[in-house]
Amino acid sequence: MSQYSILILPGDGIGTEVMDEVRKIIDWFDSKRGLDFDVIEDLVGGAAYDTYGTPLADSTMDKAQEVDAVLLGAVGGPAYDDLDFSLKPERGLLRIRKEMDLFANLRPAQCFDALADFSSLKKDIVSGLDIMIVRELTSGTYFGEPRGITTENNERVGVNTMRYTESEIERVARAAFELAKRRNNKLCSMEKANVLEVGVLWRDIVEEVHKSNYPEIELSHMYADNGAMQLVRQPKQFDVILTDNLFGDLLSDCAAMLTGSLGMLPSASLGAKMENGRPKAMYEPVHGSAPDIMGQGKANPSACILSFAMALRYSFDQGDEATRLENAIQSVLASGIRTPDLMQIEGDVPVSTTEMGDAVIDALNNSL
Ligand code: IPM
Ligand code: MG
Repeated sequence: MSQYSILILPGDGIGTEVMDEVRKIIDWFDSKRGLDFDVIEDLVGGAAYDTYGTPLADSTMDKAQEVDAVLLGAVGGPAYDDLDFSLKPERGLLRIRKEMDLFANLRPAQCFDALADFSSLKKDIVSGLDIMIVRELTSGTYFGEPRGITTENNERVGVNTMRYTESEIERVARAAFELAKRRNNKLCSMEKANVLEVGVLWRDIVEEVHKSNYPEIELSHMYADNGAMQLVRQPKQFDVILTDNLFGDLLSDCAAMLTGSLGMLPSASLGAKMENGRPKAMYEPVHGSAPDIMGQGKANPSACILSFAMALRYSFDQGDEATRLENAIQSVLASGIRTPDLMQIEGDVPVSTTEMGDAVIDALNNSL
């Protein structure tokens, strides 16, 4: 039985609370399913700044490079708003993404039956929704040079650069086509080829990868602004969406709300395969550190728990166990047990973060 090494980085705000629940889930799979996890923990974001004076210590970065998977909670908080840009909690997260070269960010947006009423859209538009956004994560506007704030002609000028090389587009396109192949053979690529040269190149490369390697996949292209509109108009027309770093940031938040709560959405950030055949990987909920509810037991641990399910699937090749965990969450929700972010339906039982975690463990026990 192989051992799976995990680095847990709870981070800030509700990150630490939801990660406590994930630890219970990891222990359950360890003791009840014989999966052998070797878990270490460290700091990231504001928590790392408080202790190490930097949002990500070099020693933490080294650990992240060595383990099979990193699980991250959330970073950021108002206490760090005035820090120099290079010390902000978000820089810790961006450094991990960049240095581990986690170029493919998988953001599934699935509308669980029990939650179809929570979407801001009509139930029939979202019920049964199951789409996957593949966001490029290590290049584009987030990292392009030149960047910065300078002074020209006595006024300040802010500069960021949207930049992609052919190989950067090609590798994330391949990742998206591979996913489409395992799902419903359908891929929609989103950019702004009507106004941005980067978009023209993006479209060309996606076409080339399609023709030479994945001709059987139904490929379409959409301008990203239209994509945002179509996501709220008729989201079920999509299956896999491929897009760049900046558009992906916006489109994935938009897709998240279709499902009812940001508290439900996991993500996986994957890089190249390591020597042991596993991809470099980090898993994190799509939600942030939610300082407004931190420390009150109100956070929904589902997104973080579902991120661990993605780790089971994509890092540890335990697809059946991932499905077991996803089903456990579904059955808890179906039974009416909800954290406060999902309390709108009369008769629902409000539970705390810890109670939600316990309910998932109960459901897991029932699955045996
Ligand atoms: C996300 C977040 C991050 C991003 C922040 C926290 C740096 O919004 O993962 O979508 O902009 O990528
Ligand atoms: Mg975002």
